Amino acid sequence: MIRIGLIGCGFIGTVHSFALRQLADAGLVDARVTATYDPDRDRSAALAAHHDARPYPDLDALLGEVDVAWICTWTAAHREAVEAAVARELPVFCEKPLAPTLVECEQIAAALERVPHQVGLVLRHAPVFRALAAAVAEGRYGRPMATILRDDQYFPVQGMYASEWRSDVDRAGGGTLIEHSIHDVDVLRWILGDPAEVAARTASIFGHTGIDDTTTLTFSYPGGSTATIVSVWHQILTRGSSRRLEVFCEDALLWTDDDYLGPLRVETSAGTEVVDAPPPSWLECFNLPEVLAKPLGQYAEPAKFFLDALTHDGAAARGSPAATEALVAHRLVDLAYRSARGGGAPLPVA
Ligand SMILES: NC(=O)c1ccc[n+]([C@@H]2O[C@H](COP(=O)([O-])OP(=O)(O)OC[C@H]3O[C@@H](n4cnc5c(N)ncnc54)[C@H](O)[C@@H]3O)[C@@H](O)[C@H]2O)c1
Repeated sequence: MIRIGLIGCGFIGTVHSFALRQLADAGLVDARVTATYDPDRDRSAALAAHHDARPYPDLDALLGEVDVAWICTWTAAHREAVEAAVARELPVFCEKPLAPTLVECEQIAAALERVPHQVGLVLRHAPVFRALAAAVAEGRYGRPMATILRDDQYFPVQGMYASEWRSDVDRAGGGTLIEHSIHDVDVLRWILGDPAEVAARTASIFGHTGIDDTTTLTFSYPGGSTATIVSVWHQILTRGSSRRLEVFCEDALLWTDDDYLGPLRVETSAGTEVVDAPPPSWLECFNLPEVLAKPLGQYAEPAKFFLDALTHDGAAARGSPAATEALVAHRLVDLAYRSARGGGAPLPVA
């Protein structure tokens, strides 16, 4: 059995631990959370108790007793945990964003390259985006022309996130662009390829220094196509985190209002088709209320992918996305922030 050490037992650490538990209980992976560590000892102990795991008093003690480090700390603490795990040659799952600054992201990526690893950019595993990426890659509806991705969420220092570090630029690295829309940057790159130019505008309407809550970013592609991300942290506390993606190709509009289940809709001159993009059938083995099926499915799929890779390929295993891919997304985010600081002028992608 693969022994998983959960490092960081807050919101997403809890979600991952429950997804991992469902996978193990359903016999889909031979892996369990056996150890937890969080400087907030109550959190660590509570999560450990839930999984019959052992809470550890420090990172080093935990790393000595596990086979994989599952890093879910706030962003600024990723690097220390990654470097300690890599020093022990342990495989690592590391949450996104890799780090608050590009320099640290590069250091983390270099460390991760030495071990089996995966970064928590989960949208690549969402069935609806897989279906859309396949349609675009095959050129089924002609070339992509214009793409619009709206990503919105309530300012996540409250509600179910309750994480005051998200208003602290030193721990988060920035606001909605790096913290939430790094997912969008990665998935658009996966679907549309590498942009040639980036232009962005950011604003901090709620006044947290360095924390953008209203961001518009435009990628321009060779050939003239564009993709625009509108990323907003608002105060509509009743509204769940949501994404709407629209891709205009020459012969079709493809769109979805749900970033995991879809469906994907495709409008052509022949009418509108609903393309089912169902989650994997093994999710039916989960013993869950309907309301938790989507959130846990979203994290269970990438987790299973990484654990399967470890089981089959051992030290040669690579997850998806790997750090090199995550680093490209970070470079684009960094370029976007630089464009915004320069008044929104387009900057070429190196
Ligand atoms: N992939 C996704 O969809 C997704 C979703 C939410 C959050 N995240 C990312 O996950 C990370 C955590 O976010 P969250 O919402 O769980 O935040 P959170 O505030 O709920 O939890 C973070 C936890 O990290 C702990 N921590 C801080 N320093 C630590 C250290 N040195 N060692 C161990 N634990 C430490 C804190 O005590 C806290 O319990 C962030 O990087 C965030 O961007 C990713």
